[in-house]
Amino acid sequence: MLTISRFTCEGLAKGCVTDERRPRLAFSLESDRAGAKPASATITVNGHQMVLGSEQSVRYDGPELAPRTTYTAHLVATDDAGETAEADIAFETGLLGAPFDASWISDAAYTFADKGASPVPMVFRRTLELSKPVASARIYATAMGIFDLELNGRRVGDELFAPGFTSYKTNLQYVTYDVTDQLAEKNELLATVAGGWAVGAFIYSRVNRVAADRQALLLQLCVTYEDGSRQTFGTDEGWEVTEDGPVRYAEFYDGEVYDARVSLEDATWRRAAREALRVSPRLTAACGDPVRLHDRMEPVSVTHVGDQLVFDFGQNFAGVVELRLRGAAEGQVVRVRHAEILKPDGTLNTDFLRSAKAELVYTCKAGDQSFCPTLTYMGFRYVGVEGADEKDLALCAYPVFSDVRETGTFACSNDKVNRLQQNIQWSSRSNFVDIPTDCPQRDERMGWTGDIAVFAPTACYNFDMGRFLRKWLRDVRAEQLRGGGIPNTVPANGFGFPTTMPSMAIDFWGDACVLVPWALYQAEGDEEVLRENYDMMCRYVDACRFWASFGVGKYRYIWHTPSFLHFGDWVAPDVPKMSQWQGRSKWTATASLQHTSSLVAQVAQILGRGEDARRYAELSQNVSHAYEDVFTDGAGKLKNEFQTAYVLPIHFGMLGESNTERAVDNLVKLVEKGDYCIGTGFPGTPYILFALADNGRADVAYKMLLNTKCPSWLYEVAQGATTIWERWDGLDENGQCPIGDDGTDMMISYNHYASGAIGDFLYKRVAGIEAAEPGYRRVRVAPLVGGGLTWASGSVETVLGRVSSSWKLADGTFEIDVEVPVGATCELLLPDGTMQELGSGSHHASCACQSDEEA
Ligand code: BGC
Repeated sequence: MLTISRFTCEGLAKGCVTDERRPRLAFSLESDRAGAKPASATITVNGHQMVLGSEQSVRYDGPELAPRTTYTAHLVATDDAGETAEADIAFETGLLGAPFDASWISDAAYTFADKGASPVPMVFRRTLELSKPVASARIYATAMGIFDLELNGRRVGDELFAPGFTSYKTNLQYVTYDVTDQLAEKNELLATVAGGWAVGAFIYSRVNRVAADRQALLLQLCVTYEDGSRQTFGTDEGWEVTEDGPVRYAEFYDGEVYDARVSLEDATWRRAAREALRVSPRLTAACGDPVRLHDRMEPVSVTHVGDQLVFDFGQNFAGVVELRLRGAAEGQVVRVRHAEILKPDGTLNTDFLRSAKAELVYTCKAGDQSFCPTLTYMGFRYVGVEGADEKDLALCAYPVFSDVRETGTFACSNDKVNRLQQNIQWSSRSNFVDIPTDCPQRDERMGWTGDIAVFAPTACYNFDMGRFLRKWLRDVRAEQLRGGGIPNTVPANGFGFPTTMPSMAIDFWGDACVLVPWALYQAEGDEEVLRENYDMMCRYVDACRFWASFGVGKYRYIWHTPSFLHFGDWVAPDVPKMSQWQGRSKWTATASLQHTSSLVAQVAQILGRGEDARRYAELSQNVSHAYEDVFTDGAGKLKNEFQTAYVLPIHFGMLGESNTERAVDNLVKLVEKGDYCIGTGFPGTPYILFALADNGRADVAYKMLLNTKCPSWLYEVAQGATTIWERWDGLDENGQCPIGDDGTDMMISYNHYASGAIGDFLYKRVAGIEAAEPGYRRVRVAPLVGGGLTWASGSVETVLGRVSSSWKLADGTFEIDVEVPVGATCELLLPDGTMQELGSGSHHASCACQSDEEA
């Protein structure tokens, strides 16, 4: 039987509210008939029928959609045996560009000029009466700052930090809430607006008031009555405002100060005033994945250390705690601190949070009560509580992250590698907080481009990144500099570049504007993501070419601007100093230019821009030759040897065939000399195992992967890591940080996903699952047996459905089970070199294969 396993509008199976005039509808199919293929489909929306062949997605191209309207898309799909399946999906349009019937409001009496601080949260309120029965009601709301809404004493929606983090001068989201069931005859609407990213202090240099001088709210409640009439209640001077609410302070870095004794009834309410904003962003319906609280976590232990109760959650993550207090005294103050690691005496080590206080200060009312902050989050594993007795306190926590759908699983016969996979997933969740951040704990949590540039392929295996990354890319486009460079943090939000760096194109970090759309395209197969970002990519690569053009002769294609203008081989563990990482920028930047220009050439080809394709391909070739000419002896040996400088040209195919072989031999020698430890920084780490394994040295790749000596992936695991660390030597054998203040400004985070980019290798080579064609229309399953592994399995919920590979090796026989979704074909490559062509369905294959005795 043919069934429809998933039907989505703009990537969502339910709850889609969109301002996209041509929303994308996509579906996946399942069948119990082996080899079933999609033959045709129709999707009917708004009286308009779209006829598809075997494609499984289409953009709506019918008559213009009306704003604030619910539509149903009806799908009928037919397979090659004539079986059919049907499904419906409802989606709703947002305002589609129509202006709000409301005004921006704020508290005109509130000014806040303190440098480096965040404002006191404002609370807005309005009461309203409805005289007729309500058929449906929506709130459309946005703010300068972040807001929580309450209607008649109940929270509205379950998303945190609305309206999200965007490039506020250009893009601002509004959030739509269905409040039909929450309305009564008499209603009170409350909105607490904290500084968030737009007004609050952010960035390690604590820049505040980036987009507005104080918080402001824009909201409309649109009611449709049962008699068909409509009414809108918008923010205006009829609203009241106060700063006397119970949330006394709220900030991402410092945490929350909450006084439960405070009653809004006693507050001094003022009339809200219309507010003129400094920015005039385009307002669009929220298009990412909402940040939410996720499954509750209980501490695994609690110890008394001095005056503190120290709770251990057994897992590092981004989130918030919930306190439940019994019989508290009025005015009792409970302080909660957060940390990723402990000091030898068992107290919290907060040194590496730098200026972030990451603290909750909660003042109790009398009696039983609970508290969970909603206007901040922390990165932590340990929590230290003062001011409460253990017997009166129950504490749990909730991870906080954007609701990206989990799509990937990976496991194998090595438990440490399995923990590595879990650590990669935890660091992903911890750093997908509305934007892709570098870390969730210290005074950064910024959209550092280099981190997601290298991590995007791994992210796209483990999660459905479509909405999350598209939302972010919209801001990358908005923030692109006139000269074509991309700020190092997006949204730039008052930063963009360190003070030591002028605004220009920066290799690998700026490369995000090419690598992220490319990774999404590989995962989803939707050319639109390339089209949308094409101009940005071209302008960026042109800018890189410009900065790389200050040379003559052989140096004409070597990007050798001074190293302080780059991040180079960032955090490479084989050299201790930041200046040494940056000092490798000649190699990393030149390889980056080759890589981005070659990818843009491919993109141009796909989009039918032949002339561009030729130009960028030629550029990439010239850069390849220059790299070989300048940095190698012409025979595959680098004049200055380090791992990244081999990995990049090998993996990017920059050297001729025979020189690649020699370069691989030389890389192997270097790796052996380093006892199979990692020597790569951000640029080389995602690719080193590919560079080895894809060139005949799977043995060495596996030795590196399975190494437990420092620095290596499994060293972290052996030291008890539950997330990926920023620095490979983050903890010594005693669980203490040996780095200290090493001139990198205490840059030691235990929750940084960048080096988890190796997850791509786990899926592609160990489990062996790869999109041979973008969007998995054609799947390649080719597990790489080695490292003494006796089994591995992986699965990916692709846009077409589930792909899985599960192999085992015993008694000289390799066996594999493969699942191929309807709509895909698969080439299965067995370790004996034989190839099988598979259609959709479940398959089993085997061959003779010797297990390697190495591990
Ligand atoms: C961040 C990195 C980032 C880097 C830029 C750090 O402080 O945490 O992950 O990419 O700066 O070099």
